[in-house]
Amino acid sequence: MTEQKIIKRDWYKEMSFYQIWVRSFADGNDDGIGDLYGVYDKLDYVKSLGVDGIWFSPIYPSPNADFGYDISDYRDIHPDFGTLDQFKKVLNRAHELGLKVIMDLVVNHTSDEHPWFKESRKGRDNPYSDYYIWRDKPNNWDSLFEGKAWEYDEERGQYYLHIFAKKQPDLNMDNPKVRQEVKDIMRFWLDMGVDGFREDVINFISKKEGLPNGIPFLPAVNGMPYYKDGPHIHEYLGEFRKVCDEYDCFQLGEGPMTTVKSAQKYLTGPTKSLDMMFSFDHMMADCLYTEYIHRPFSLVKLKKAFTKWQKALSGKGWNALYLENHDHPRIISRYGSEHFWRESGTMLAASYLFQQGTPFIYQGQEIGMTNIRLMSIDQYVDVSSITNYYTYHLKEDPERRLKRIHLSSRDSARTPMQWDGSENAGFSRVRPWFYVNPNYKRVNVKEEENDRDSILNFYRKCLMLRKNSKTLLYGKYTEYFPKDKSIYMYERSLGKECYLIICSFSRLPVKPSKPEKYRGMHGKLMLCNYPKAPADEKGHFAQHIQNEIEELEHKKGYFRPYETRVYRYELKD
Ligand code: GLC
Ligand code: CA
Repeated sequence: MTEQKIIKRDWYKEMSFYQIWVRSFADGNDDGIGDLYGVYDKLDYVKSLGVDGIWFSPIYPSPNADFGYDISDYRDIHPDFGTLDQFKKVLNRAHELGLKVIMDLVVNHTSDEHPWFKESRKGRDNPYSDYYIWRDKPNNWDSLFEGKAWEYDEERGQYYLHIFAKKQPDLNMDNPKVRQEVKDIMRFWLDMGVDGFREDVINFISKKEGLPNGIPFLPAVNGMPYYKDGPHIHEYLGEFRKVCDEYDCFQLGEGPMTTVKSAQKYLTGPTKSLDMMFSFDHMMADCLYTEYIHRPFSLVKLKKAFTKWQKALSGKGWNALYLENHDHPRIISRYGSEHFWRESGTMLAASYLFQQGTPFIYQGQEIGMTNIRLMSIDQYVDVSSITNYYTYHLKEDPERRLKRIHLSSRDSARTPMQWDGSENAGFSRVRPWFYVNPNYKRVNVKEEENDRDSILNFYRKCLMLRKNSKTLLYGKYTEYFPKDKSIYMYERSLGKECYLIICSFSRLPVKPSKPEKYRGMHGKLMLCNYPKAPADEKGHFAQHIQNEIEELEHKKGYFRPYETRVYRYELKD
């Protein structure tokens, strides 16, 4: 076995992050909207998870056409969330607790209510005229969120480009003044003490000269070849990198639809401008482009995506690991099973937290929150879900269309955090701004704090194990039996130490094969997601028998539904 070289220990590599989407996290001032007062009160909880940092989805002033991703002032806090002073309090307290804080930098577009856009639309001869992308005639691009990518502006008498919603005009990054603005914004937050940025759709900021027509008949993404990884992307990101280099911070780029090959250019070599990237391949094991086309979940596809990224960046770059964020439905409802809720919720944790990279956990993921299924499309609030419903697959009957929204809506990730079993799930004392998932009495922090074997406590165990093991942090990644349709098995190895992580994605008992190198060896069981509770704890005879049968199968090497186990092996010379 080859000795892995330990790569330079940049601090972010040993960390894990918790993502907070403030509007739905905790309401501190009783208006039904999550805010920074609520965040402040929950910082100890965040710390207790064993994470080392927080990523805040945008908390700046915004008309909320895309819930914060349409920014109207980059240097302030949304009044719903508090004030700059309150943010500073949160930042200081987080730092006291040893938590880093990274901000969302959304610079592909602004809100149409940003003062730059208000000026720009006034005419062609004002200082902000070229801050956005204006044309007399639109090309054929579609937007990702709302019909065509061009909107006619009466005041200016021209069309502006918006790759996302109409209220999110794209900035013209070819204009050096715009890039200067971005650098100033970065400095503003870095000087305040934040530790880095998650950079929104950063691979879209440079558009191909002349904005050529895209692929006809391909809905939504037809223009992507001309705005993804555009001609000046590395040059512009290089400029932003220089700012970051003046501070001890890191940059994490969101790269929708990015390929490993293009990601390598951002993450390694002379064009390295980012420390990590959020890739999307592994989020498409049950769909294409997250919202548009659904297909049955394929474990083989998921494993292929995981392994592709692990291998491609090994020893050269660094992965950002995630299974959930504010843009994706809940993972148990997708890749796991709501029926085997605890089992699959814990197994999914082990399926990604021990890969090489920096893990991100999204609020509510750690307690196993699941998708919400609202009765009518009118109850949904996310612009992309609404467009999806009214634009695609129009021939389907309304029931099927609504089912598609149940499967795909980003709103499932945005329901209020479930803190306890009291009214409004302990999120707020008044009626929350959005629907609480009806399962909150069973799925909530308080309940799980008191349960040794809860999903919450399993996340804690995983993070602790990862943090204390050089092998799990830096070891080599190897996958076994990639074609197996029920088991995901991967290894992390460093020197003589190996961890074998085995995850069953099956509802039935399955017996995983043992890799050749471990035959005849006994590993130490470090973690298992099935409780070792005494069989008759609750006095149920049937359950007692059931448990014994399960124990027996377990002993014969069978994995129970969605079981996961982590073994540690010490190899001989
Ligand atoms: C990113 C964000 C998403 C947002 C989009 C446009 O994908 O994560 O929430 O809607 O960019 O800013
Ligand atoms: Ca509030």
